[in-house]
Amino acid sequence: MMMRFAAGGKSDPPEASVERRIRDGLGDRSIVLVGMPGCGKSAIGRRLAPRLNLPFVDADDEIERAAGKTIREIFEDHGEPYFRAGEVRVIARLLNAGPQVVATGGGSFMSEDTRNNIRNSGISIWVNAELPVLVRRVSKRSTRPLFEGRDVTAVMKELMEIRYPVFATADIIVESRDVPHEVMVEEIIKVLSAYPFPAQPAV
Ligand code: S3P
Repeated sequence: MMMRFAAGGKSDPPEASVERRIRDGLGDRSIVLVGMPGCGKSAIGRRLAPRLNLPFVDADDEIERAAGKTIREIFEDHGEPYFRAGEVRVIARLLNAGPQVVATGGGSFMSEDTRNNIRNSGISIWVNAELPVLVRRVSKRSTRPLFEGRDVTAVMKELMEIRYPVFATADIIVESRDVPHEVMVEEIIKVLSAYPFPAQPAV
């Protein structure tokens, strides 16, 4: 027997039930996009959030807002360790305000504290992309201090070697090919709609 129709004889549009299933699975947890600079975390997150009727927040923007400086200025004035400490605090604060879609900076998942916080309060998605795609996208914008005045391909390879084993511990992995961000959004929705969300830990 078909079970699609509710008592009133009306059915929800399929998108609405997918959205509801994902929202129910998440509870208070956020969807946290992790991955290398240039993999499309922010662009994908910005489009994914409205599909799930969730707010979108970009951790790098929040760090800049909290510091009253750009990321480049934070690196210049205080150094990378200071930036990383702020990054841990800001992402922890964002995770406390879930559910939302959070795009994180490429290095943030390397912090064990941040990984633990995400494990407790989020579902992590590693947006993986091929080296040439990352290099092309990062070379377009010069706002990332780690790449400034350096060979983008060489730095990217160095970072990939260190970071990939850690990114691989994310809950979900998607391959960001060189396709429009909307395609990646649909793919993420599809994966999330079939994802066996673990029960949320009791607080
Ligand atoms: C960084 C990535 C940047 C930003 C900072 C450091 C990194 O974010 O957080 O420049 O360590 O990979 P994006 O991944 O959004 O470029």
